[in-house]
Amino acid sequence: MGVKRSKAERVAGRGDDVLPGQLELVPGGGGTRKRASEKVVVPVARSPRNAAAEVVEEPAVEAAPAPAPRQKRRATAEQMASKQREISISEFFTKNRHLLGFDNPSKALLTTIKEAVDNSLDACEEAGILPEITIEVHDLGFEQAGKADSELTKGEGRFRVVIEDNGPGIVKEQAPKIFGKLLYGSKFHRLKQSRGQQGIGISAAAMYGQLTTGQPIAVTSRTGKGKPTHYFEIQIDTRKNNPVVTRDDKLAEWHQEHGTRVELEIVANWQQGQRFVNRYVEHTALANPHATVHYVRPKQQRLSFPRATDELPKEAAEIKPHPHGVELGSLMLMAAESKSHDVKGFLTSAFSRVSPMVADEILKRTGWKKKVRPRDLAEDRDLAEGLQKAIQATKIMAPPTNCLSPIGDALMKKGLVSFLSVIETEGPEEDQQLDLDQAAKKKASKKEKQARAEAPLVPDAPPEEGVEKIKGHNYFIATVTRPPKVYRGNPFQVEVGLAYGGSWPADKSIELFRFANRVPLLFQRGACGVTEAVVKTDWRNYLLSQPKNSLPVGPMALLVHIASVWVPFTSESKEAVAHYPEIIREIQLAAQECGRKLAAHIRKRQHADYEAKRRSLFELYIEEVAQALGKITGKSPLPIKRDLVKVAREVTATELEEQDRELEEASEKTSRRPRRRSDEEAE
Ligand SMILES: Nc1ncnc2c1ncn2[C@@H]1O[C@H](COP(=O)(O)OP(=O)(O)OP(=O)(O)O)[C@@H](O)[C@H]1O
Ligand SMILES: [Mg+2]
Repeated sequence: MGVKRSKAERVAGRGDDVLPGQLELVPGGGGTRKRASEKVVVPVARSPRNAAAEVVEEPAVEAAPAPAPRQKRRATAEQMASKQREISISEFFTKNRHLLGFDNPSKALLTTIKEAVDNSLDACEEAGILPEITIEVHDLGFEQAGKADSELTKGEGRFRVVIEDNGPGIVKEQAPKIFGKLLYGSKFHRLKQSRGQQGIGISAAAMYGQLTTGQPIAVTSRTGKGKPTHYFEIQIDTRKNNPVVTRDDKLAEWHQEHGTRVELEIVANWQQGQRFVNRYVEHTALANPHATVHYVRPKQQRLSFPRATDELPKEAAEIKPHPHGVELGSLMLMAAESKSHDVKGFLTSAFSRVSPMVADEILKRTGWKKKVRPRDLAEDRDLAEGLQKAIQATKIMAPPTNCLSPIGDALMKKGLVSFLSVIETEGPEEDQQLDLDQAAKKKASKKEKQARAEAPLVPDAPPEEGVEKIKGHNYFIATVTRPPKVYRGNPFQVEVGLAYGGSWPADKSIELFRFANRVPLLFQRGACGVTEAVVKTDWRNYLLSQPKNSLPVGPMALLVHIASVWVPFTSESKEAVAHYPEIIREIQLAAQECGRKLAAHIRKRQHADYEAKRRSLFELYIEEVAQALGKITGKSPLPIKRDLVKVAREVTATELEEQDRELEEASEKTSRRPRRRSDEEAE
């Protein structure tokens, strides 16, 4: 018989983790397999100590363990060591290009355009130039066919994407590394609000182009009047993550005084991808009202979004990190790099909001008896931890907020108005949230046509405050800019704007437009912290219906913008904002503030509708009643009519006040309805 298992082993019931139907490999059973269901239950003698373990599982057969066959070693540590190799960042992202937003040819088209346009806008803003950007998409298959009646490429094909700006240009020496080396950029090491952060964007697009078409990225750039224009063709040596310049020419002439033109040949899918690009362009114009954007598409008319303002956004200042957001490892690294002789000097020079007085207070809290130098902090973890605790315990002013450049209430309104005036579609599409072009072409359903016909046209009377007449329809526009807040020591600011009404369908989910540092976020809506915050807001309080765990329903577009020195994206493709509680709370607060304005508008509109209905009802009969009374009393019907109209107005006004009260009460009741905890916290 086999070796007996100890009681402890038996009580532990070895094999407990085997699921029914699975095969268990019996140890020492010479590879014999036994069904888990074939286990038998063996009663164990009852004793006070094992009373709880009255029943244990035993294998049916206890076979003697045969000596384990000697396994042949597949590889030695030395052999394995010989295979270790450094991986270059470009090799890594060539294999993992989905991480950068190049998952498929439709998305890659948008990502390529987005990276170049974001860079152009960043560069113009940093240089203080009002941006004028041209985006061109050329269908090479269609253009090479050269016939007017030829078809656009269906599905995947070769496309040429061109982005040209009037920015500061790029100096000759920098161009190869900017476009031919991943993780090379000017924005990563600073804390300043900008669209780019990582130093990967445009070189990744170049890499995608090279990978799919073998063509280098072409760059034309000039830094000012009287300066030469350089034309480069750059490839990436992906093994080394280094640029290879295949062409370097000086151009005799270029129409731009200063600026950059980037041309990429890529495999893309225009048929499917154009909806993303269209929306990206429209939303970029919306969030950047200071920019003029021209959009040239295959076989379609050029679309231009003229700037809504000639004022550049406030320049965002670069800041130092706030001490409350610093983690231990970073603190030690910063101390190691510090040139200060003492910790007081280190604290005041490396961090924002640490005055000599605050530094003294922090040092007092550490309770250090001996003199500590920054170098000691870098070498001694306990010392560094002591300092970090003292920093956290000290009250320090919130970080400066001049590092943030929100769109602002007025410009958000202007942006929304010009956006609604230019967009090609007239309303949100539930299932095809991104398909603006399709929506424009699609025949409107009977229901939609009816809704459009019934949508009130703006009367000539003075419009209500906040209501804009766009394309003949009324839109109520409200915006809210929250004061700056901090997450992990990084300042951020939330803005929310909404456009309500117009001809949009009232029975569909609202359109949610997400932006981070003025860049539209078009993918991963469900995974984004912004969506979570909007869904968690109780919109029933603001007279919209809202299915559980969903966006509210109503004729509304909601714009949420988060501006920060460092936007916490969930991945390198910068598509969704991470779920930081501080950020979610701020978005909720802004949404609630906007919601209150919306509720006031909806209530006012309900009143106006009601008043108009009642009046017309009265007026229908007043004429006849006045005539009849005139005949009976022998008086002129005119003053009687005037008196009756006066009475009617008073009656409707009183009724309206009553209705107003009722609506207030109803709204209060909804506010009192039990809500999810996070909503209450946000309130
Ligand atoms: N059109 C342009 N005009 C001027 N400078 C540019 C332009 N495009 C890129 N640059 C410079 O090239 C650098 C690298 O651009 P890249 O897009 O690769 O990274 P990034 O914008 O810093 O960060 P991210 O990866 O988040 O986009 C930028 O930091 C910027 O300094
Ligand atoms: Mg960039």
